[in-house]
Amino acid sequence: MGRKKVTIVGAGNVGATSAHWIASKELADVVLVDVVEGLAAGKALDLAQSGPVMDFDLKIVGTTGYEATADSDVVVITAGVPRKKDPVTGKFPSRDELVKTNQNIVGEVTRQVAKYSPHSIIIVVSNPLDAMCHVALHESGFPSQRVIGQAGALDTARYKTFIAMELGVSVRDVHGIVLGGHGDTMVPLPRHTSIAGIPVRELMAEDKLQAIIERTRNGGGEIVGLLGVSAWYAPAAGTVEMVEAILKDQKRVIPSAVYLKGEYGYNDLFIGVPAVLGAGGVERVIVMDLNAEEKAMLDHSAEAVRSVVSILGY
Ligand code: NAI
Ligand code: 2OP
Repeated sequence: MGRKKVTIVGAGNVGATSAHWIASKELADVVLVDVVEGLAAGKALDLAQSGPVMDFDLKIVGTTGYEATADSDVVVITAGVPRKKDPVTGKFPSRDELVKTNQNIVGEVTRQVAKYSPHSIIIVVSNPLDAMCHVALHESGFPSQRVIGQAGALDTARYKTFIAMELGVSVRDVHGIVLGGHGDTMVPLPRHTSIAGIPVRELMAEDKLQAIIERTRNGGGEIVGLLGVSAWYAPAAGTVEMVEAILKDQKRVIPSAVYLKGEYGYNDLFIGVPAVLGAGGVERVIVMDLNAEEKAMLDHSAEAVRSVVSILGY
């Protein structure tokens, strides 16, 4: 058995940073793909040249075509247009406004991925995330266990970071989970949040906790407001957490956008729920015992996802 291989389509901020984390953890050979001539090749060469110093030994190549991607174990799709300020109007498009543009991009990319790596597991990152998972599933024809969206890993990481900052404790000791679609309707679950097993509400006042929940929901927008473009370090970290779980068959429980067939009462819908990730992709969906308030919030989020999915026209 040779080394594992990961293809990352889109060598922009999230794609290149994902390659960086994969290399630094020495997880797999990496193929970067981008439509922009020289971009993937240049970043791959630059990253490869850091190997002798950073002590990793991997094959890292960049290309505009798909031949070199053949037989990848995991393919990460970050190709798309990120949220960016319109230079004319000065306004930011919402995630949902990007749907049609990114549907075409993700659709074309997925067809190539399915052709060259028919046995791969696809991790979708492109926004609007939950809807783009539907595109990848539809265009690949893969079984739904092999198409997974990255959102919950990032949203949960943001939530944990804010809690650790507020309480002055290590992020390592904060446990929690964020469900739902990747958008303002996401569902952080304070009832399932603890600090080394101590329920968060024993340590934090309700108004502080609610402020953190709100900040998590706007986590993407907060970075866009600061930088003018969307985030990449934490999105890439969340993505690589999932890549690693699959490559190493870790059976990690990571909130991920997965295709539901009745779980949580939803059918034919990608939405963020706890999933066991291993060599088979989504090996199991964990159905939590949500209370009425939590379920209502998840229903609201599912409706928001459905309204975007309906734009796809499938
Ligand atoms: P970016 O603009 O830095 O990179 C995107 C890259 O995709 C560009 O280099 C572009 O040339 C390339 N690309 C466009 N069409 C392509 C095609 N047909 N084939 C191959 N490459 C193509 O954007 P960034 O910041 O890396 O974000 C990428 C996507 O990820 C966006 O849709 C963004 O909204 C989304 N995102 C999702 C997150 C999540 O948690 N799911 C978090 C952060 C970003
Ligand atoms: C984020 O949450 C925009 O999806 C991107 O940072």
